[in-house]
Amino acid sequence: MFENLKPSKPDPILAIMGLYREDKRADKMDFGVGVFKDLSGNTPVPKAVKEAERRLLEQQTSKAYVGMAGDLAYNEAIKRLTLAEAAPGDRCVSLQTPGGSGSIRLLGEVIQGSAPSAQVWLPTPTWPNHGPTLSAAGLTMASYPYFDFASQSLLKAQMFDTLAKVPAGDIVLLHGCCHNPTGADLDMADWQRLTDMALSQGFVPFVDIAYQGFGQGLEEDAAGLRYMASRVPEMLISASCSKNFGLYRDRIGAAIMIGKSAEATQAMRGALLARTRLSVSMPPAHGAEVVREILNDPALEQGWRAEVDAMRRQIQSARQSLADQMRSLSNSDRFDFIAQQRGMFSTLGLSDAQVERLRDDFAIYVVGGGRMNLAGLRPDQAAPLARGLLAVMED
Ligand code: LMR
Repeated sequence: MFENLKPSKPDPILAIMGLYREDKRADKMDFGVGVFKDLSGNTPVPKAVKEAERRLLEQQTSKAYVGMAGDLAYNEAIKRLTLAEAAPGDRCVSLQTPGGSGSIRLLGEVIQGSAPSAQVWLPTPTWPNHGPTLSAAGLTMASYPYFDFASQSLLKAQMFDTLAKVPAGDIVLLHGCCHNPTGADLDMADWQRLTDMALSQGFVPFVDIAYQGFGQGLEEDAAGLRYMASRVPEMLISASCSKNFGLYRDRIGAAIMIGKSAEATQAMRGALLARTRLSVSMPPAHGAEVVREILNDPALEQGWRAEVDAMRRQIQSARQSLADQMRSLSNSDRFDFIAQQRGMFSTLGLSDAQVERLRDDFAIYVVGGGRMNLAGLRPDQAAPLARGLLAVMED
């Protein structure tokens, strides 16, 4: 029955985790999958999460089903965190999903159910799982230029030229902040221009925000998408709590939809629920309860916000250490962009051979193209990482 199954291709990001685990070298360094690590190399459970979990353990009296919509108080809280005052009242629905990835897939299915011929325009480059996940939902992908690795700069003119041709009813995927894999973000003027284009051309923005708080701050990182959300008639948002709440393995995110009217938004809610029932039936409870507990307790929320700020400062200082090392070892300022980019990732634009050589000769693990998780860089690793990178790039 299953003899026709073809061997699956390894996932370009998750495969690195396996290779790293198998490596016996004591000095190996992992800059693969996007997880934050503290100065001793651990991915900590934030204190606010531990406290919320302690309370849940004490208070929980049942494990009975919660329902297809998941935790209603979480759904409201995550909407507030993402959109704040920009949430357009009864034109906005938010639904708990298993991670940000679960949200992307769910929203893809809702698009497919309503407009199966809509194309989704993805930036080049983008997170390698965007295209496959949305294709698996039955949609067709198109692409727009976003970033040039050689000059480490955004291709704004080309991006706007291409997006000017997107027809009404297509979807344009944007990264809310901390663009994965480049660390190069749109500025407010870009968000304003894209909002005007969505309004005049009739395309629907789909914003993936997985790193809120890791760029400039929890509010600053959502400013562009909030501007857009308060103006466009329809919009989709995938939010993730993996990184900013440190809840990676608990798989908690949200699908947020903005509709043209209250009635249209109710229909969206119905479609989200029906699709949820057909895939996971009901979303897993734990992560949602933790986030709800934090965001509905002012003291706990304040503590969590301070923890996110501290993670962001550590990432920024790791970026600065690497940029300093690259500057002194290369005698040039051409790697200063590492300190200017934001969020977990920067990508050097390495070839497959260079990525392999980094791994084989220097025990340095990065994702294809040379994507580095700088939220996993300890201060003592900056010099050996810089030496490895320059060695493979200078050959
Ligand atoms: C990453 O890009 O490393 C993270 O978003 C983890 C993942 O699922 O790929």
